[in-house]
Amino acid sequence: MIIAIDGPAASGKGTLGKRLAAHYGLRHLDTGLIYRAVAKALIDAGQPLDREDEAAAAARRLDPAQLDDPLLKTDTIGRAASQISVFPAVRAALVAFQRDFARQPPGAVLDGRDIGTVICPDAEVKIFVIADPRVRAQRRYRELVARGEAADEGAVLADIEARDARDRNRTLAPLKPAPDAHALDTSALDIDAAVAAAIAIVERRRAAAH
Ligand code: DC
Repeated sequence: MIIAIDGPAASGKGTLGKRLAAHYGLRHLDTGLIYRAVAKALIDAGQPLDREDEAAAAARRLDPAQLDDPLLKTDTIGRAASQISVFPAVRAALVAFQRDFARQPPGAVLDGRDIGTVICPDAEVKIFVIADPRVRAQRRYRELVARGEAADEGAVLADIEARDARDRNRTLAPLKPAPDAHALDTSALDIDAAVAAAIAIVERRRAAAH
């Protein structure tokens, strides 16, 4: 089984993906980490983020071991990942890795922006996670404070809104629900309730497929 989870920044899709994978015994790939790793490789090498050829070369050099770097999680890298992810050559260089991952038995949960639309259009279950931007900003702010990082809630909200706009409005593989995706609004749900709602969606889809 392949489960595709898409949604905007800080919607909780990563945690949801991890929990669903554990529940169903599937492998999990947070595809945002791939774009983050490419962005970080460029930053570490002192290269600009606005050159498609250099960014695509970094994408072709991606080593899956890079995905474990805890520094990929910072907001600076998230912003940079959103910038380089608009380049068609970068996206093209990363498609095969994601599809190969999805195809390995026993199946996988992939979360990102274009999983249900581009990477795994045949996924058995597609979930599109949404949450009010102010709720997402509050969650992200609490996470940063818990990690001991200085944070300003207004700035976090502005960053989330800028990232939403860039991810939704890019020409190639923009953030949007696949026609057969199930919307899951987590604005009023804590993580356990969101996981339960996602499992209910998966179970309904499986029952309908039989
Ligand atoms: O989910 P995230 O915040 O880790 O993603 C970081 C950026 O990577 C996001 O702003 C856009 C890009 N991204 C993408 O374009 N396609 C994906 N499938 C996943 C992430």
